[in-house]
Amino acid sequence: MAKARTAYVCGDCGAEHSKWQGQCMACGAWNTLSEFVVQPAKAASGGGVSVGAHRDGYAGARGEAAKVTPLTAVATEVEARTLTGIGELDRVLGGGLVEGSVVLIGGDPGIGKSTLLLQMLGTLGERLPGVYVTGEESLAQVASRAQRLGLPLEPLQALAETCIERILEQVRDSHPKVLIIDSIQTIWTDLLTAAPGSVSQVRESAAKLTRFAKQTGTSVLLVGHVTKEGGIAGPRVLEHMVDAVLYFEGEAGSRFRVLRAFKNRFGAVNELGVFAMSDKGLREVPNPSAIFLSAHQGPTSGSAIMVTREGTRPLLVEVQALVDQSSLGNPRRVALGLEQNRLAMLLAVLHRHGGVAAYDQDVFVNVVGGIRVQETAADLPVLLAVRSSLHDRPLPDKTVVFGEVGLSGEIRPVPNGEERLKEAAHHGFLRAIVPKANLPKKKRIGEMQVVGVDRLDQALDAADG
Ligand code: TYD
Ligand code: MG
Repeated sequence: MAKARTAYVCGDCGAEHSKWQGQCMACGAWNTLSEFVVQPAKAASGGGVSVGAHRDGYAGARGEAAKVTPLTAVATEVEARTLTGIGELDRVLGGGLVEGSVVLIGGDPGIGKSTLLLQMLGTLGERLPGVYVTGEESLAQVASRAQRLGLPLEPLQALAETCIERILEQVRDSHPKVLIIDSIQTIWTDLLTAAPGSVSQVRESAAKLTRFAKQTGTSVLLVGHVTKEGGIAGPRVLEHMVDAVLYFEGEAGSRFRVLRAFKNRFGAVNELGVFAMSDKGLREVPNPSAIFLSAHQGPTSGSAIMVTREGTRPLLVEVQALVDQSSLGNPRRVALGLEQNRLAMLLAVLHRHGGVAAYDQDVFVNVVGGIRVQETAADLPVLLAVRSSLHDRPLPDKTVVFGEVGLSGEIRPVPNGEERLKEAAHHGFLRAIVPKANLPKKKRIGEMQVVGVDRLDQALDAADG
């Protein structure tokens, strides 16, 4: 069989070069060439560079031609799922681990990725034997961690190896049902000369693992490092190749961790799993709705409590704002756990439709507990927290707020309003400021009085009590 060779491909226009150079000869873009393996013409499907799993299809890779098939003739089988035994993880995976699936788990260093996956292998135990491939820690470190976590050691198997060919050779013999790769950035293939962690190495290794998963029905879990911006380090294409992408989030100082599905071919996205880090590893928090509230004694300015509904559970979270006289010509707008651009837009709406000016103020907004709120229901709480900080006037005690704010100052409804209100009432809140369209039939839920607003100025008045 002819040997595979490598080529340098421009990430912008796709032109192929035989050696690396700073500028693409075809389109003139700088610094866009990266190394790829070119399969010899006979083995490859259609020949040429194997860019992404889509060209390197599972049938095509072995040379058979695929046929057009009516979907009615395709035998569908329910995908085989196994509950991992960690309820919050199963919830995020969409109801357990799917056979032959590839799951990517990203998160900051030290957040608990390795701990979670080792615990998962431990609870799966003999039901679904697995191999833990470590490229970052030694076998002794993995074993002592497993011991410290109190896991049964007998069914646990580990492999300290980073070369993908040798890993696959090893696991082909031991037939595991689950394969954990910690982390994909340390894995390399000897087909390429690029350094481990580089785009081409990560992509090629992940492609091999994906093929292995589909061929053997092994569930593969990849740990991925994240960049400073919070995305998975390495090629974006990694996210396209895998079946599910999960992110592990949390604040450095807090013991709570949130696992979130960002993409899932087998379940709902934006489902949250909540864990707490303890000396015995990660513990599940099956009823997390109020853990993200900070413990204030009475009302504090710059704070608004909202009810988000990420995934299938309502969650009470606190939005904090600090507004301070700026000494810069271009005042700062910093949003942690929320979208930066949205904050700038909301401040413009607050000025234009609420008459509250913050153009000469630095504005910092933070979601307590290190969790990220992606839904627009956070708009109104952000604005009320900002105004509360600016005027140093707390919102009325025991008040929750949610609602989307439009560019013309209208307050738009959000999904599942009633469920959010019930959760707030359940936690003893006495007042809610919500979009008018989210008002329940009765304006009271238990002890809680619900105020509906449809313009920003009404919301500001309602917050004045
Ligand atoms: P780890 O799983 O190594 O993180 P990652 O693989 O995402 O980099 O997490 C380790 C962190 O968790 C570390 O800071 C120590 C802490 N920890 C505990 O608090 N208790 C434990 O039982 C374990 C195993 C780790
Ligand atoms: Mg780790």
